[in-house]
Amino acid sequence: MGNSLRKGGGNWVAGDRFFDREVEIEALEERVEDRIHTLVTAQRRMGKTSLVRKLLRRLDELGDFTTVFVDVEDAATAADVVVEIAAESGKALGLGSRLKDWIAKLTNTTISHIDEFGLGEFKVKLRERIDAGSWRPHGNKVFASLAASGKPVVLAIDEFSIMVSRLLKGHDYEITTERRRDADEFLSWFRKIGQEHRGRITLVVSGSVGLEPILEQAELSAHANIFEPFDLKPWDEQTAIACLRELAHTYGLSIHEDVCRAMCCRLRCCVPHHVQQFFDKFHEYLRRANRSEASKADVEQVYNKEMLSVRGQASLEHYRGRLRMVLGDKAYKVALRILTQAAVSDGRIRDTSIRQYGKNLASLPDHEGVRIRDVLHVLEHDGYLTRDGDGYRFVSGLVEDWWRTRFGTSFMPFDQQLPLRVGP
Ligand SMILES: Nc1ncnc2c1ncn2[C@@H]1O[C@H](COP(=O)(O)OP(=O)(O)OP(=O)(O)O)[C@@H](O)[C@H]1O
Ligand SMILES: [Mg+2]
Repeated sequence: MGNSLRKGGGNWVAGDRFFDREVEIEALEERVEDRIHTLVTAQRRMGKTSLVRKLLRRLDELGDFTTVFVDVEDAATAADVVVEIAAESGKALGLGSRLKDWIAKLTNTTISHIDEFGLGEFKVKLRERIDAGSWRPHGNKVFASLAASGKPVVLAIDEFSIMVSRLLKGHDYEITTERRRDADEFLSWFRKIGQEHRGRITLVVSGSVGLEPILEQAELSAHANIFEPFDLKPWDEQTAIACLRELAHTYGLSIHEDVCRAMCCRLRCCVPHHVQQFFDKFHEYLRRANRSEASKADVEQVYNKEMLSVRGQASLEHYRGRLRMVLGDKAYKVALRILTQAAVSDGRIRDTSIRQYGKNLASLPDHEGVRIRDVLHVLEHDGYLTRDGDGYRFVSGLVEDWWRTRFGTSFMPFDQQLPLRVGP
């Protein structure tokens, strides 16, 4: 099948699974040339990780930069982040068997009892030496070493916003004074180091939840001002159709352009992962029916019976999880209600309805301190809702339908609601 486009699955994609995004890669390349620190923002599953990884591969091919990719999804503290950056930087700088010397230099210690070790052990060794009291000088050294390496460096940090959220809210989603102080310290340091090495190290930061609303909740927004935002958009209809047609070709299916257009209409917003999911379900469905040709009626069938089925909705759980992480339990309950109210009202919620809910919030025992405008900001920023006339509407047809199917049946109008229990 040569270079034909293959299905994406759920994880980030590369090679013959990566489609389009030439314009975005070019724009990001230009920013890197101009040494601009970038914050890649987009709603969930838009292809941020795939895009940034592709950018780094392109830069590697050009050979003018050293590239470092760090995923900090599991990092819970500033020390964890520094360890991750140090480990990946050591690897990218091609230290190989000299990793031992790199740690020794970074941590001012001698390591004599180990001759050779790989990245996993390297991280363990770093972890033993970098802790809450010492991450800052170690972090400074890591950045100084990167800056002093031969080529300019592009340091991409994925899931940065998740890490900041964890730093700020821990695992119980509560902002405490101590956590806010820790986050403030880390972000001040990060901003300073980014400014100090501008020109030698360019940062490309991304994450599956928006950074700005998280910082805003803790009144730490100023820390994001070293970044120029880059808004990754959904595919337009033409691109999504081209993707579906190429996938169909690879897997020996005949899906006419009109059928692909009907699929895009259903999705309304062509988030790459949703396009991929739709194709995958379509493929399975046609295989079961022992057919290779598809009609518009098949689109409806697959959408309603497969995409919106309980199994199809598994992705929605991921959306909910992220929303809860960004908002914390109390505000998450408010978000659930706003989204469900919109879902059962044809995908729209009016300002009057929001105001009415806002009035009722004060009387609900588990909602103290929740500001409805913060919730709306997150829902708008992270791509759930968009402003529409005298209210908001769902951006994605699929997310709207998922929401309605999952929560709509047991939903009570705003004026009759009781406190809502949040599941695990
Ligand atoms: N350029 C692309 N070409 C083909 N498929 C893509 C592309 N970008 C994203 N996808 C689809 O979307 C899925 C998710 O991609 P990726 O993990 O890069 O997105 P993300 O925005 O980082 O997601 P998250 O919000 O979960 O972090 C992929 O598995 C693939 O199915
Ligand atoms: Mg990602």
